[in-house]
Amino acid sequence: MKVEIAALNHTFFTPQPRPALLNLDLHIPSGQFAAIIGPSGCGKSTLLRLIAGLLQPTSGSILLDGKTPAEANAARQVAWLAQSPALLPWLTVEGNIALARKLLATRLNHQMSVQQALQRVGLENAARAYPFTLSGGMQQRLALARLLIQNAGLWLMDEPFAALDEITREQLAAMLLDLWQPAQPTVLWVTHNIYEALRLAERVIVLSPAPGQMVADFSVALPHPRREDTPAFQNLLYEVRTALNQAVEAAA
Ligand SMILES: Nc1ncnc2c1ncn2[C@@H]1O[C@H](COP(=O)(O)OP(=O)(O)OP(=O)(O)O)[C@@H](O)[C@H]1O
Ligand SMILES: [Mg+2]
Repeated sequence: MKVEIAALNHTFFTPQPRPALLNLDLHIPSGQFAAIIGPSGCGKSTLLRLIAGLLQPTSGSILLDGKTPAEANAARQVAWLAQSPALLPWLTVEGNIALARKLLATRLNHQMSVQQALQRVGLENAARAYPFTLSGGMQQRLALARLLIQNAGLWLMDEPFAALDEITREQLAAMLLDLWQPAQPTVLWVTHNIYEALRLAERVIVLSPAPGQMVADFSVALPHPRREDTPAFQNLLYEVRTALNQAVEAAA
């Protein structure tokens, strides 16, 4: 799914006006895996909520394959994954996935079974367990299986693995890449971790401190699996970090 954002502004009234996003123009081609980074409070979650249609922008437009966010949502074309996986505690692992599948039963070309989705995230032996008996990493894998079975064209991810330990985070990041590669949904992944962004994404978009403006846009044309100890990776790491630091200094 193609994402076209033009002259997007969003201000919260609390009741004083608090601008969160300023004049954002962004075009994400269909199937691209883009990371969004920026300082805390710069409007990253606000941006995802606007794209998901959970908020109405103060001005500007968002089109998802030419549809408004509300239309794309009604067609269940947009999937969301956040830090807390929002699983249904009264349903088992397979029950959670089966429900998501049932809600989407009318969607054409929807062929993945519950069992296949659980296999893809390595949870086939936990099908009868309840979510609260799973570790944090397993719960996020279950959320990934649900994302997969939704078969949506756009995955909005708001720091999905930020609460996990480093090793689990790396495992899930690798899993996310494996899930993205064959299906090629468009991914907008918010992370505060530059290193993680460069390990996964094809593009890294840097926002300024609030109100968030786009200050840099890097294309990451490195093959997978990416090695951090290469000059190309290190150069990009340096450039992204510098862009972020300059934006923070300019706003101070
Ligand atoms: N519902 C709301 N009402 C009022 N102000 C809000 C609301 N949601 C967010 N804000 C403000 O808008 C700005 C952007 O918030 P947002 O949550 O989008 O930032 P963020 O980049 O996701 O931050 P973090 O990295 O800490 O998650 C902040 O100043 C925040 O306080
Ligand atoms: Mg946020």
